[in-house]
Amino acid sequence: MRLDKVIEQNLKTSRKEMKRLFLMKKVFVDGAIELNQHRNVDSQLHEILVDGQKLKTSHVYYLLNKPAGVVTAKKDAKLQTVTQLVGEEDRPAALYPVGRLDRDTKGLLLLTDNGQLGYDLLQPHAKVAKLYRATVNETVTTADVAAFEKGIIFHGGIRCQPAQLKILNSEAGNSEVLLTIQEGKFHQVKKMFLARGKKVTSLVRLAMGPLILPEDLAEGAYRSLTLAELRQLKTYFR
Ligand code: URA
Repeated sequence: MRLDKVIEQNLKTSRKEMKRLFLMKKVFVDGAIELNQHRNVDSQLHEILVDGQKLKTSHVYYLLNKPAGVVTAKKDAKLQTVTQLVGEEDRPAALYPVGRLDRDTKGLLLLTDNGQLGYDLLQPHAKVAKLYRATVNETVTTADVAAFEKGIIFHGGIRCQPAQLKILNSEAGNSEVLLTIQEGKFHQVKKMFLARGKKVTSLVRLAMGPLILPEDLAEGAYRSLTLAELRQLKTYFR
């Protein structure tokens, strides 16, 4: 949550009083004077000390194992959404998915009500790596690996950044690959293979930045990030 909001909510200050606390150098984050009112903080990660008082935030961060058939949205007129997979008691109004997986894509999705963190994780300059396991309907070759490394150009001319493709198993009609990309263009993985004349027949996201899909998290299930996982996201709090 933005530091100015944390102060206003915890200390019930007016906007003017809140600003004055910054001017008087009475706001400390992790032991240092903080002047940036818009800094994103979470009391699980940061010590927030204002005018001698320790302040708290109450954000939620969930790892969801998205099943196929569910849409990455907050609301949909017809289809079940990823936020609806979260129990109502765990679902603050601002809960939303960070990034987007297609309806038929499965795997790791981060959900949070810390909008600023979600925004910052999706910025292209943040270069958050996304790891996918894909099944492809053709033989995948070392020429494909080289083309992904060079930067795939979509039909239509858009160029992707270099991506790391690893062939796990390559057979005519059915190949298994691991692909790491650092962007999040619409249908990116499917379009990258289409640019090579191949079709992705199944797609699972295994990791996003430091977060890894837990093997024991059933499809459709979610759990809170552990403190260790949340700490790994601290560098993305700006
Ligand atoms: N790329 C895709 O094509 N689809 C997804 O769901 C995610 C990445």
